[in-house]
Amino acid sequence: MRHIDTTQAEGLLRQYYQDCYAKVSGSDYYRLFADEKLKHSFQVIGAGNYIMQHEQVFHTSRADFLRCAKLAYLFHDIGRFTEIERRCAEEPNPQKHKHAIYSYEILQHYPEYNRPEILLPVKYHSCMIEELYKAPEFLALGDSQLRRDVEAITFLVRDADKIANLYLMKTSAAKSDKVFNDLFLDHKKFSGVSAPILQAFMSGQVAPLGSIVTADDWLVSYMSWTYDLNYKSSFDFCLRTGCFSNLQEVFNKHTADTLLQEQIGSTLQEYIRNRYQQFKGE
Ligand SMILES: [Fe+2]
Repeated sequence: MRHIDTTQAEGLLRQYYQDCYAKVSGSDYYRLFADEKLKHSFQVIGAGNYIMQHEQVFHTSRADFLRCAKLAYLFHDIGRFTEIERRCAEEPNPQKHKHAIYSYEILQHYPEYNRPEILLPVKYHSCMIEELYKAPEFLALGDSQLRRDVEAITFLVRDADKIANLYLMKTSAAKSDKVFNDLFLDHKKFSGVSAPILQAFMSGQVAPLGSIVTADDWLVSYMSWTYDLNYKSSFDFCLRTGCFSNLQEVFNKHTADTLLQEQIGSTLQEYIRNRYQQFKGE
């Protein structure tokens, strides 16, 4: 992949982080949150670069398309810093915030980043993909190259975000550190999988966030991200680095139900096998 210089964009991302860090400096939790989100953004840049290198759709000579793709994953979480600032200010009753919308709104203010190939992948990186397909701003693009570009970059940002997080889960679970327990499991206890989470997982759907109650639910919901990966290189990365097996191992460690362990493991393996068959046929 040719080098795409994004020094200026990285500077802007760091500036939002620093402004946020100064505002939340009185809180250990929010400082950790801000640090982790900056680190995450740079890990997503690595993951995005990896996918771009390995996927045919990005082996194009259109330099402008490749630049937009890199900027989209670089900036996808810039709105996290707005979320962190607001949540900190709202303590002890922090509200829910849509960081992807904040990222989108921030980028609209910069003429060089205010274009659909960057804005739409950023705005639709963490919701259900159907939200993109029914969005008037996506439909207005028509059946054009631009629409295909937006879709390819949205898939890229969504995959890069997930595989970077799955990899972080693997390294942080190994250390049983604060990042895994506080940020990924959200201090929840291990007390079984809730019915709606299991039902979604077994039927090949991404688990509904609103139904998460336990730490087991979080783990099953992270496993269900597999259903939402788009590129073969994302599967290759997760298999090679043991990201899928990590979640199963952590899950199995905390549940005595061996039948459930077996059901979840075989469902996931079967899905991955089918996806590889599909990739072969493409
Ligand atoms: Fe992210």
